[in-house]
Amino acid sequence: MTSHPKLQQWVREIAEMCKPDSVYWCDGSKEEYDRIFKLAVDGGYAIPLNREKRPDCLLFRSDVTDVARVENRTYIASRTKENAGPTNNWIDPIELKKTMKELYNGCMKGRTMYVIPFSMGPVGSNIAKIGVEITDSPYVVLNMIIVTRVGTKVLEVLGTDGEFIPCLHSVGKPLGPGESDNGIWPCAPLDKKYISHFPEERTIWSYGSGYGGNALLGKKCLALRIASVIAHDEGWLAEHMLILKITNPQGEVKYIAAAFPSACGKTNLAMLVPTIPGWNVQTIGDDIAWMKFGADGRLFAINPESGFFGVAPGTSADSNPMAMESMRKDSIFTNVALTSDNDVWWEGIGYDAPGTLIDWTGNEWNAETAAKPAAHPNARFTAPASQCPVIAPEWEDPRGVPISAFLFGGRRPHTIPLVHQSRNWVHGVFMGSIAGSEVTAAALDLKVGTVRRDPFAMLPFCGYHMGDYFRHWIGMEKKTSTDRLPKIFFVNWFRKSDEGKWLWPGYGENSRVLKWVFERCDGTGAAKETAIGFMPTVDAIERPAGVSGEDMTEMLSVDKKGWIKEIVSIKESYARFGDRLPRELLDELAELESRLKNA
Ligand code: OXD
Ligand code: MN
Repeated sequence: MTSHPKLQQWVREIAEMCKPDSVYWCDGSKEEYDRIFKLAVDGGYAIPLNREKRPDCLLFRSDVTDVARVENRTYIASRTKENAGPTNNWIDPIELKKTMKELYNGCMKGRTMYVIPFSMGPVGSNIAKIGVEITDSPYVVLNMIIVTRVGTKVLEVLGTDGEFIPCLHSVGKPLGPGESDNGIWPCAPLDKKYISHFPEERTIWSYGSGYGGNALLGKKCLALRIASVIAHDEGWLAEHMLILKITNPQGEVKYIAAAFPSACGKTNLAMLVPTIPGWNVQTIGDDIAWMKFGADGRLFAINPESGFFGVAPGTSADSNPMAMESMRKDSIFTNVALTSDNDVWWEGIGYDAPGTLIDWTGNEWNAETAAKPAAHPNARFTAPASQCPVIAPEWEDPRGVPISAFLFGGRRPHTIPLVHQSRNWVHGVFMGSIAGSEVTAAALDLKVGTVRRDPFAMLPFCGYHMGDYFRHWIGMEKKTSTDRLPKIFFVNWFRKSDEGKWLWPGYGENSRVLKWVFERCDGTGAAKETAIGFMPTVDAIERPAGVSGEDMTEMLSVDKKGWIKEIVSIKESYARFGDRLPRELLDELAELESRLKNA
């Protein structure tokens, strides 16, 4: 328990509102984890996996309607709509609280209310922040214990008056007397789900979903949406970025942070196994980076998380052997398929389904007759970062690691080259602001072939007006000297030929591009200046097997016609930011246009 009066008072108030049967304070111990693990199994929510193949692992299956983040039910309830900006849903905070209080009233009846003190970042680091999540979901408790640092140590750092971010979560399904869930994943219907952020109060209220980003409130809600607001106000960065460590054959080290929209292989890049001899990549984090300037003017990054919550389908011994190792034991699987010997399976795991499976909906599944995938496309693994064989020894250094380069990217089959470097800081911010992926399936209400812009991969995660966010990034330049600022690059592993063939093999071969980035940070690395920025000369990056000289030339040249079209599309995407779009970015766009026309 705690001797923090404000925290005690908050927990009391929430308990009075939600009316749980009991209140339990999490201490983060192994004994506690094991107890809640058993409770989940005994309650029929979770299936313990094969003790030899997957020791101490659990499989959870969600409700079929509760399988992903719900962007259309996610709210930034700042005091004014204008401050939430055009890319966030907004409801007046007073009205939203009124609606949600009605939903929260008695919502934990028949359940235990867990109080989870957690630290985002190494406990006590000056970059870290403390949150306290209240939840009625044992699934959330187990996952939070893996992906954040939970327990008594956090309360000690909090002391009697330390600052914490209150995070309230309920699955939104109270139980009547004698009622139980009967092993069914509890959640509320879509129109009752609310994932709400109150940025001025630095508070999170989530209701009605038990799934990942909606319910593990330390991750997207705190570490990105609320932290981005705090970072804006305090002059640092909270970003949707992986952090990797790269070491050259001479033993020199650099740290790179990279932002990509979902489904671009961030976790794979964070754990990449280089194909170039003598180079080594290690992981600091795979999803989120918090960065502050150090006394020496360099930007230091921590991974605020302590585990991975990765997409399972497509993860294999080929695409990401290190992730596969990380989830060998002590991991949680959500919505994957179950084999007859209680192991897990998913599409793209690298081998055929062994016989008949139970699919993620709990039904028998056979490869020959199946009409649908056995694992949900957004099925997840939750694994402790400490189990990653290539986790860097300094991944928990409370001071963070100094960042030399930022990478931005997206899935861009056309136009965008394999890699190019910004001309300067503001041009780099421009690059971040135009990140996005081409729409390849008509799943989104966007036309196939258009680009869904996802500036800095932060579109679903920025807790305030993105125009102000761009301004904040531009302003970082003034906080240090140019030689201390990270260099900025744009990469694209997803170029296709006119015939639709991948031009670049990706995965471990991306190390060749990282090598060029490394060299550019040292002021070496052959480059030519072009209309769009600095690009490798055609032989600056050694070609992987299977990539012809012609392909390489295509990936490393400026597609003038494509870029002119790109400018039209950037103008459209910029228009929505109105007069909060920094002038500097419009100037960058105009200068790019004129350089292209004169090229
Ligand atoms: C994630 C995401 O789950 O970015 O990390 O969607
Ligand atoms: Mn992410």
